[in-house]
Amino acid sequence: MHATTTLPSGEPVPVLGQGTWMMGEDRSRAADEVAALRLGLDLGVTLIDTAEMYGNGGAEKVVGEAIAGRRDEVFLVSKVLPSNASRNGVIRACEASLKRMHTDRIDLYLLHWRGGVPLSETIAVFEELRQSGKIRHWGVSNFDADDMEEMGRLSRGSNAQANQVLYNLTRRGIEFDLAPMCRNAGIPIMAYSPVEQGALADNAGLRGIAARHDATAAQVALAWVLSQPGVIAIPKATRLEHVRQNAAAREIRLAPQDLAELDRLFPAPSDRRPLEMI
Ligand SMILES: NC(=O)c1ccc[n+]([C@@H]2O[C@H](COP(=O)([O-])OP(=O)(O)OC[C@H]3O[C@@H](n4cnc5c(N)ncnc54)[C@H](OP(=O)(O)O)[C@@H]3O)[C@@H](O)[C@H]2O)c1
Repeated sequence: MHATTTLPSGEPVPVLGQGTWMMGEDRSRAADEVAALRLGLDLGVTLIDTAEMYGNGGAEKVVGEAIAGRRDEVFLVSKVLPSNASRNGVIRACEASLKRMHTDRIDLYLLHWRGGVPLSETIAVFEELRQSGKIRHWGVSNFDADDMEEMGRLSRGSNAQANQVLYNLTRRGIEFDLAPMCRNAGIPIMAYSPVEQGALADNAGLRGIAARHDATAAQVALAWVLSQPGVIAIPKATRLEHVRQNAAAREIRLAPQDLAELDRLFPAPSDRRPLEMI
């Protein structure tokens, strides 16, 4: 049984998932992308993160192919663009996402980032979709501490089940206020770009720690994210070797000595910083 964290609803979700940004952009690569996601599912990496934005719907089509015949194994996350966040816009966008993924439900539907539509309107339609069973839960993405506070004051704002934000060893800003705030509210952080879009795989500082674990630098970066309580990591990998390595990173237990070294190499924030976005 692989590690899980718990949504505010009480439902357990896996702490490791698979990202899909940059997938579905080129049909000639689709078969390899489907194979990568299916290998991930075979290895028990059953949370898949996608968005209507990725590949202009192309990533959701790839996901649809990957989960065909095995929908019930998957915890499926997708996102609506802020430009579609009005009542009618969300309903249309959700229907289109469901169609592209050949499924009748999204497990967690996120507002990709804040835009001009009042948050109260988006939350109201998320709740409607939840009542009708088209989505099982909803949440947000790229919300900073003040956005979370504002949402908490809105009617049913406390029904949000996750906040997906940029978080990795080189992007620790959220540890100052946003991460403790979410943890106190029992809301998981979904860490996107957990290996800094591949850059941490080449980080010289990580190599010594990696050698002690017979692992790669990217695996150590991922293991560090996974060691944080209430955090879900969603690395994207198309190369099968990367999919295998990411799945295996769940088994790495960083020792206090490793964690202290990582803190020296990548210091935690000592003051408040605005949330970074990619
Ligand atoms: N909510 C948001 O605004 C937002 C923003 C950004 C991302 N996201 C989500 O988060 C997911 C992950 O973020 P990301 O794609 O930006 O970056 P990432 O997962 O940090 O990095 C992906 C890159 O790292 C490489 N990689 C993966 N595993 C590796 C390993 N074990 N060793 C070496 N290299 C490895 C991949 O190569 P290959 O593909 O060649 O294997 C790919 O080039 C996205 O796919 C998306 O689902 C959300």
